[in-house]
Amino acid sequence: MQPRETLASWQQLLTHAQQMKHQHMNALFAKDSERFDKFSIKLPSILLDYSKNLITEKSISLLIQLAQECQVEQWRERMFKGERINSTENRAVLHTALRDKTQSAIFVNGKNISQDIKQTLDRIKSISEDIRRGLWLGFSGKRITDVVNIGVGGSNLGPQMVTEALKRFSDDSVNLHYVSNVDGTQIAEVLRPLNPENVLFIISSKTFTTTETILNAKTAMKWLTAASFDQTAIAKHFIAVSANKENALKFGIAAENIFEIWDWVGGRFSLWSAIGLPIAIQLGFEHFEELLAGAYEIDCHFRQTPLTQNVPVILALLSIWNCTFLEAQSQAILPYDQSLHMLSAYLQQAEMESNGKSVNWSGETINYPTVPSIWGALGINGQHAFYQYLHQSNNIVPADFIGSVASVTPVQGHHETLMANFFAQTQALMQGVDEQQVRADLKAKGRCSKYIDKVAPHKVHQGNRPTNTLLMNQISPYSLGSLIAIYEHKIFVQGIILQICSFDQWGVELGKGLANKIEHQLRNQQVDENNDSSTYQLIKHYHQVKSK
Ligand code: F6P
Repeated sequence: MQPRETLASWQQLLTHAQQMKHQHMNALFAKDSERFDKFSIKLPSILLDYSKNLITEKSISLLIQLAQECQVEQWRERMFKGERINSTENRAVLHTALRDKTQSAIFVNGKNISQDIKQTLDRIKSISEDIRRGLWLGFSGKRITDVVNIGVGGSNLGPQMVTEALKRFSDDSVNLHYVSNVDGTQIAEVLRPLNPENVLFIISSKTFTTTETILNAKTAMKWLTAASFDQTAIAKHFIAVSANKENALKFGIAAENIFEIWDWVGGRFSLWSAIGLPIAIQLGFEHFEELLAGAYEIDCHFRQTPLTQNVPVILALLSIWNCTFLEAQSQAILPYDQSLHMLSAYLQQAEMESNGKSVNWSGETINYPTVPSIWGALGINGQHAFYQYLHQSNNIVPADFIGSVASVTPVQGHHETLMANFFAQTQALMQGVDEQQVRADLKAKGRCSKYIDKVAPHKVHQGNRPTNTLLMNQISPYSLGSLIAIYEHKIFVQGIILQICSFDQWGVELGKGLANKIEHQLRNQQVDENNDSSTYQLIKHYHQVKSK
């Protein structure tokens, strides 16, 4: 395995980055009237403009060379064909098979998984339709009015982000709720207004061992059985989605209510599987299918389009350019569409759990900056909160601006105001305003020179802050499917180039193990002397305050 730093393109990019650091995007735009055409890609439902990055044609050509030297195209094929590219867990990575419209045969361990996928989709269709039509009845013969999805991480964020984004496509035949937090407040608040007779729980857990989910599921089970002691009630009120059928059965879920997912679907890429059941229940199966179709379009684009015109590849290369070579350590996700209010939370898991690692495929320490931390919020709200930092702090935060040409909920006059801000912000971040201009503006407003001297330095914006604009035609199941798949493939490409195992998450295990030990101490009013002194004193204080 060739260390990335020894690649010719890597070395050239290092030198090129030092030169580019002295450039300003204003000059690059002034020099080249075709910059937008050169640095934008139009897909059927999404336009990517990446011209407002600190790049030239040379930068892109070197980055493409890097992708080629890292064999991105070959790795891409290995993923689509089902090779075990998740090397630390020895698994295939096949979320793309879940949305393959052609249902082509694809084999994992000698088994054609396309048949399993088809069967599962058929079950999602029939169960979601039964629930939506009021044919699935609770223990007292009443229809299901409320579905509570219990799951965390990938077993929560994907379905919740999508159902929030596509609310306008729901006919409200069922109310959907999500419980992810082990803080009892959440489940108590969700269940408080509900009647057990009308509630169906989906216990979503790939492993069926996640402590938080199992505890919430037990609480839900107690809540139901307090209303009906009849064991048959459980089969009418509990569904499980899991790769661990044995544990789901042991928990008490009826065999016919268990939806299978497979080890070749990573948790954070699983909304296309039965983990997406809440999506089909709330939006209808045809909308779930459209979501899959939108993702499939991107799978084809990613697989077939040359690297230079390939949206996920370009986004990955820009992230590497900004983070690894220009050393920007975080990236903001800024949707200008209320429906995407959970997108940054979703992408935090997708990107940070995938690529937030510091050893390469061989287990050697990586000596270069890898991926940025991902954060963000709805753009408009952010403008009145943290954009000050984006515009004028010493830290450069590259940002993805995501907006829509048409609103799904047009309210007269609102969308133009929203989108005016959307376009203005990337312009302001790029152009900035220099001191000369600031002074001229203040003078034109009749300000005295004393005031101008005092205030001018504070009003200077250096600009030159990189942004990508992802402009969707409109949020729909199809376009949202495309958007999510773009980011999934971006994450894959980043992992390949940076030599990171993107499909495991060992980093969450240590804390889980320690929490188990500490939970024992909390429940038994003990403090283990082997704790470090900080943790020891904190637990002691906890016990003292609690016993008062
Ligand atoms: O926190 C780690 C993690 O394993 C995620 O990768 C996963 O999405 C989440 O927990 C939930 O896991 P499960 O679906 O197995 O309950």
